[in-house]
Amino acid sequence: MKIQIINGPNLNLLGVREKSIYGDTSFEGYLEQLRARFLTIEIEYYQSNVEGEIINKLHEIGFSYDGIVINAGAYTHTSIAIADAIAAINTPVIEVHISNVYKREEFRHHSMLAASCKGVIAGFGMDSYRLGIENLVG
Ligand code: DQA
Repeated sequence: MKIQIINGPNLNLLGVREKSIYGDTSFEGYLEQLRARFLTIEIEYYQSNVEGEIINKLHEIGFSYDGIVINAGAYTHTSIAIADAIAAINTPVIEVHISNVYKREEFRHHSMLAASCKGVIAGFGMDSYRLGIENLVG
């Protein structure tokens, strides 16, 4: 089974960025824990700050992988193009957020992507990614 994690803009700064919201673990460190937990699953990781690159990645793997866990960062709230890419592919996509976006500014309460996704997980810190994978493998 192959699962792709995609992180969008500013998530390369996890562990450095706004630690009170996003925690102090880098994604690379967390990824090691995830891979150790799901030993029989291939978990690929891709991060980009560029909207078109995220779309290209969705096209590249979205017809062959078994699942995608995406945290599109702020593009979640703005990107019709990423929503269209998710709708265009076959692979199920789970939208995740580290923070509880519903407790934050109002502009974070709306997701352009959610309607094209299998489901949404928000507010469980880094564990949001694990919960997304649990659903895809379950
Ligand atoms: C985020 C929430 C978004 O609103 C924000 O722009 C991010 C991170 C989260 O994981 O909590 O960059 O997706």
